[in-house]
Formats: sequence, structure tokens, C-alpha cells
Amino acid sequence: MVLPTGILITSRDYSVITQSRNHAITQSRNMKKFYLTTPLYYPNAPPHVGSAYTTIVCDVLARYKRMCGEDVAFLTGTDEHGEKLERAAAAAGVSPRAFVAEKRKLFVELWQKLGIEYTHFVYTDQPDHVISVQRILRLAQKYEPGVIYKGQYQGRYCVNDERYISDGAEPANCDICGRPAELISEENYFFKLSAFQERLLAHYAQHPEFVRPDFRRNEVTSFVKSGLRDISVSRKRIKWGIPWPDDPEQVFYVWYDALTGYLTGLGYAQGENGSEEFQKYWCNKPGESEIVHMIGKDILRFHAIYWPAFLMAARMPLPKTVFAHGWIYYEQDKMSKSKGNVVYPEPIVEALNSFGAPGNDALRYYLLREAPFGQDMSFSYEGLIQRFNSDLANDLGNLANRTLTMLNRYFGGEVPSPAEQTLAEREVAELAEATLTDFRVRFDACDFSRALESVWQFIARVNKYLVETQPWALAEADMEGNRPRLAAILSTAAEAVRFSAILLAPVIPQSAERLCHQLRGEGRLEDQRLDPLAWGGLKPGTRLALPEIIFPRLDKEKTLAKLHELAEADRERDKPKEALKPVQREKTPEAAPTPAAEPRVPSPESRTPSPESRVPSREKISIEDFAKVDMRVGEIVSAEPVAGAKKLTKLMVDIGTEVRQVVAGIAEYYTPEQLVGMKVVLVTNLQPRKLRGVESNGMIVAATVGAEERPVLVTFKEDVPNGARLK
Ligand code: MSP
Repeated sequence: MVLPTGILITSRDYSVITQSRNHAITQSRNMKKFYLTTPLYYPNAPPHVGSAYTTIVCDVLARYKRMCGEDVAFLTGTDEHGEKLERAAAAAGVSPRAFVAEKRKLFVELWQKLGIEYTHFVYTDQPDHVISVQRILRLAQKYEPGVIYKGQYQGRYCVNDERYISDGAEPANCDICGRPAELISEENYFFKLSAFQERLLAHYAQHPEFVRPDFRRNEVTSFVKSGLRDISVSRKRIKWGIPWPDDPEQVFYVWYDALTGYLTGLGYAQGENGSEEFQKYWCNKPGESEIVHMIGKDILRFHAIYWPAFLMAARMPLPKTVFAHGWIYYEQDKMSKSKGNVVYPEPIVEALNSFGAPGNDALRYYLLREAPFGQDMSFSYEGLIQRFNSDLANDLGNLANRTLTMLNRYFGGEVPSPAEQTLAEREVAELAEATLTDFRVRFDACDFSRALESVWQFIARVNKYLVETQPWALAEADMEGNRPRLAAILSTAAEAVRFSAILLAPVIPQSAERLCHQLRGEGRLEDQRLDPLAWGGLKPGTRLALPEIIFPRLDKEKTLAKLHELAEADRERDKPKEALKPVQREKTPEAAPTPAAEPRVPSPESRTPSPESRVPSREKISIEDFAKVDMRVGEIVSAEPVAGAKKLTKLMVDIGTEVRQVVAGIAEYYTPEQLVGMKVVLVTNLQPRKLRGVESNGMIVAATVGAEERPVLVTFKEDVPNGARLK
């Protein structure tokens, strides 16, 4: 049995980690080129199941593309610059370079443990990345004169969260920590994003596959239509970054730097025009190559607006697709260290392995099967166990096991010749061919969950076929007389196992390999191509191995206990590192200040339905009914606790025409300092009522999150005037 070898790491060098074995398989001039990337992860925090999600999906897709005969380059890496990392390094008492080098290893090691077969690894602190970033900037300056210019920025900046809060000098509070933001002013280099509005819109229209899924494209398109402001692409306040050419005072804005990592990883910095590999994967003719960036929904705007504009300015080819997937929530709640609900992959794999189950494959299968790709997904340990038991242990595992057991028992472990075929066998064969077609269509559309559903429909059909044909009863009744019929049934079932294992190889590679090994398939499963895959590949006379249980049924209680125990131990190990705050916040598009005041637009991701939005259907109301509710934008002008009621806060809310007194049950979650200055939504036409003797004249709208029903106030990213009506 040949299992994936993991990652080849040369001593201490993680720059370009190439898995030559896979590479050799896929290298051919005539093959279609496929370049697939994960985001470059911030290495300050250890990767969790959310970061592992994109990487696992990419690994699955890369394996699938290889099986389709494509020449695949699969890049992952780390995004290592910026103030957060600089500070974290200072707090740890080491240089930023030493700090990120250490943290990077966590990613390399996890991908190795998870059997991720990437071909390239890039880190933005690698020396040649400086050349790439400066090169693409110079090209932009050459081809698009005036695209880069110096401008003065004035805005509000939260020192605590290190993020730009708002443009202009007006006071503003940080919407994360609630503290008043400082007024800062600095001279930066700007990228004239506004000049790309029409070009971007034309590109989205001509290449609808550029942003996927479709609903994300619509979000991006309407965002761009609403007007683009120029963005600052350099920073004066930060030292840990790529130096701006000829201006030692400035470094590149982290996103300009990080996105260019996708080029560096292919050797863009080499020679005049980049390496041969870079030419092959990035600069090939459309149709001969495909570039796909797989990302989470929160970083869509950087990839679907900024990145193509940066590339257009430098006259470089654009990726074919930016696919923004949904987020993983832990039991419908956002994962966060402070809540202690961050799920890490290692303890999951370890816990399942300890019961003899294939931990990696179980996790991969669950992540790909549980929710349609592109939508948010709620992760739960129960869900993982349930999926494993029902789909892998029960459906696939049982099919493989009973088929092999009967072949060993009735045919001495040899595949018989399926002489006596009936309509039932032909139906199974036809369904197999149809499943292959359906599977490929769905996989090509990144509809992994339905692709798997299709295979499971096939597996269910074959299980049903065994129940209908009752080979065990035939054997018991008259083994010799029924031998031809038994041969047809069992060779059909065995072929179905082989067929399914090949289709499932990208998703559950280790288990699929073991299944094929039991069927004594020739060669390695990963070398199998889907194009010549046809029904009937399992040849009569093949000697089979003894069946072994690949998917042992998990005892729910024991497995849950183990999962929680290992997850807890893992979090303990993590505790000292919690001092480092996550850097995700740097990704807020507001972090790109502009010289010109421009209306703020809600981010595309802010319109993403959360798992909480999947509410049970209620009685429908008419639009007239809805219009009866008067909701207005209000600004909290003061906030104070209600004496004797630890949950209540008394708020004074300016709704344009008047200031309302409202009592809200948010005291345990928001401090008065956080609230003052916040724009909220107020239902203004409710009957007044008294709470603990204090009159409340309206209701603040909030989302209710998690089991504890934490209120999260609805607020705005755009500057909306007080009193504006919501409808
Ligand atoms: N460094 C930037 C990306 C630069 S790409 C040139 C970044 N890094 S990150 O580490 O914060 O996030 C990396 C990816 O992890 C993002 O795609 C993000 O969507 C994803 N996820 C982080 N938490 C997640 C979940 N809980 N669920 C799914 N994916 C999530 O952004």
C-alpha cells in the first residue's frame, strides 16, 4: 500500500517545498495546466479547522485534477508581514523574522499531518518576494502612469486593534473594542483603484466564472458599481514589511505584498520574466491553463477587486476564478479563543485514529460532505461521528466488507467470472457510468457535497441490490447450483467497491487506497485517471486480500469523550500563545485609507447569511405587516447601567428627530464606553414599557448568537444619518 508521503522539507528551508513525486507524475507539456492556491495564512495563531478547511478542499481538488490528467501546481503558504506580527514578535522577545519562521512551521507540520500534497509553499518573508512585489509595482507604474501617487491620509485609527476605523477627522469609536479612535495623518502611496471600475465591471461581465459562487459575483459587482475609492498601498507606521522602492520611510501595504505571493511562489522573481514554471502556470494561453484562488468569503474583496486591478495595472494575466467559500462555525457560533470554542484538526484526527478509524479521511469527508461548498457550515463533533458512522462505516464500509467476506468464503478469495448477467447487473453498471459523469460535472463545479451525494446514491443502490439478490441465501440454499448467479452478483458488488473507491480517492485518499489494496488493484490509486475509468476493470481471476475493517463504527459517547478530552488538552497547550492577538482584523478593507472621503459600502461578506439566519419557517406576513414596524438608525449618545439590574443598560439614542430613552438587556456584553457613538437600529413604534421601573421607548435590534443567546447589536459600516428608515 502506498500512502501519501507528506511534505519534503529540506533542512530549515521552507521557501519552495516541492513534492517531486507528484510533480513528476503530472509534468507534461501537453497537459492542461492547473494552478490552485489557498490563501496565505497569517502565522501568528496556530491553524484551526477553518484554515484547514480551505487547504483540505484544495488538496481534494488538486488530487481530482491530477486524476483528470491535468498538470497541477498547488500552492499554500504564509503571510508574514505587518504590525501585528511585528508586535507579537516584540512581545515574544524575538525578531519578527525569527518569530514568523518559528510559527510558519506550525502550518508546514499540520499540512504534513493532514496529508496535504501541495507542490509549492511560499512565505512572504522569503528573500525573492521583495523582487516580486517591487517588480509588479514598477510594471504598474510603467504601463499605467499615474496609477501610483502620493497622497495625504487623515483618519481615525484604533491603536488597540491597529486598524483604520473611519476616514476624516470626525471622532469615532472602534467597532471592535469600543474605544475612541485616534486621529492620525500620514503621507502614503495610493493605488488609483477608482480608474479600474469600468475595467473590472467589464471583466466580471465577460468572465462570469471570475467570481464564484454566483451570489458572490453579484455582491462584488454591485459593490464595484457603487463606486471605488483609491486605496493606500504603503504604510509609514509599520517597519516590518517589504520596503517601498526608493523610499525607505515606507513599506508596502500587507495586501499588496501578500497577494503578490501567489506569483512569487511560482518563481516570478527569477530572471527577467519569471521562471519557466511561472510562465507555464501563470502566463499560458487561456484554455491551456487555469488559475484558481480558493479563499474564505471574508477576503473576497481583496481577491476579486484589488488583486485583478493590481494585475491589470501591471498588464499581467488574471486568474480564471476566485472561489469564496463559507465559514465554519462551531455549533453555529463563531469560533474564538476567548470563547474557548476553537476547533483544531489535530486532536480530531488523533481521537478518531485512537479508535482505529481513519481520522484524516473522516475529517475530510465530513468537511466536504456536510454543507454545500460556498455556504457556511456548522461544525459539531456529533455531526462528524454521525457522518462517519452512517456514510463511511455503514454504507461504504459494510458494502466492501460483506462483498469481500463472501468472495473469500464462496470463491476462495478470487474474483469470479460474471457469466450469468441479468438486468439487475446491467442496471448497476449503467448507474455506475452515470455516477461517474455526474460526479465529474459536480466536482468541476466545486459542488463537492453533491458529488459525494451522487456516489452515495450509487453505494446505496448496490447495497439494495445485495439485499434484493440475497447472495448469502443463494449460497446457503444450493452453493453449487447457484454458483453462476453468485459469481455475477459478487463480481458486480466488488466492481462497485472498486469504482467507488476510485471516485472517492481525492476525498478519502488513505481509505480509498486501502480499499483498492483489498481488491488487489494494480498500481497506485493516485495514478488512476478518471478518463479511462470504465465499468468492468476488476478482472476475473484477481486474487483478493482478506477483508479488514477500514471504517470501524464509532461509539458515540466514547468518541465524544475522547474528542473533548484531546481538544481540551490541545487548548491547554495553546494557552501561553493566547497572548498573541489574532491578526485577522488587518484584513478589514477599512485598513486601506483614502485621501478622498468616499461613502462606505457594506462589505460583501457582511451580507452573508449566518447559520443563525437559517431559522425554522414561521408563519408568513405580508409586506404591509412588515411596513408597520418602524425601524430607524439611531446613534447612542449615552449609556449607563440600570441600578439593581445587572443585565440592563439604559441608553439615550438620537434618532434624528428626537433622543429616545431605551432599556436593553445588553449590560453583560457591552460596556457603556463601547456603546457611546455606535449607530444602531431602533424599533421606534413599540408601546413604551417599564423595565425595573425605567421607561423604555423602543427596542434595539440585535442578533442572538450561540446557546447563551449573546446579543450582537446591528450596526452599519456605511455612515448612515440618524433617523434614516430601514425597510
Ligand atoms: N493573510 C490573509 C490572506 C492573504 S491571501 C494573499 C488572511 N489570513 S487568515 O489567516 O486570517 O485567513 C486565511 C483564510 O482562513 C481565509 O480565507 C479565511 O476565510 C479562512 N478562515 C479563517 N477562519 C475561518 C473559518 N472559521 N471558517 C472557514 N474559513 C475561515 O486572511
